Amino acid sequence: MAEAFNDLTLSADKAARYAEVAVEIAAVLDGEPNLTARMATVASMLANSFDHYFWTGFYVVDPDRPRELVVGPYQGTLGCLRIAFGRGVCGAAAETGETQLVEDVHAFPGHIACDSRSESEIVVPVHDAAGKLIAVFDVDSDKPAAFDAVDQAGIEKILSATFG
Ligand code: SME
Repeated sequence: MAEAFNDLTLSADKAARYAEVAVEIAAVLDGEPNLTARMATVASMLANSFDHYFWTGFYVVDPDRPRELVVGPYQGTLGCLRIAFGRGVCGAAAETGETQLVEDVHAFPGHIACDSRSESEIVVPVHDAAGKLIAVFDVDSDKPAAFDAVDQAGIEKILSATFG
């Protein structure tokens, strides 16, 4: 009972923090059209808002190789440089256009371990105003099952407000 109450309280706090950081990101990026600046700001501000974020960043669709993602702005330890569509969690998000919420990365077929401390992960596709896939946003945690529907809703909202 106490545990369930605690979980609910934490979820409400987390949702409130996503709503706050969404406003902060919009304020910082007001009038800034550059895509790299926008991605770097989202990665930095989200990574610094939540303790359960371990690696935070973008893999962008390479304009020269349209079925390949290449690393973009990120916060964290060294990330893999390139990921093919369909490979690992990021590649699955790019291929399907759907958010991937992975409680245990070791159980995900083809998961790419850039840092062996990663335990769970969320990857959200990023679309531009025309609905074209331009990148995926990847957050890894060093704790198992660190992400839930509150993270998904919070991140999806910020990405569509920033890039859509
Ligand atoms: N874990 C990801 C690879 C990217 S990194 O963890 C930074 C994946 O399987 O897509």
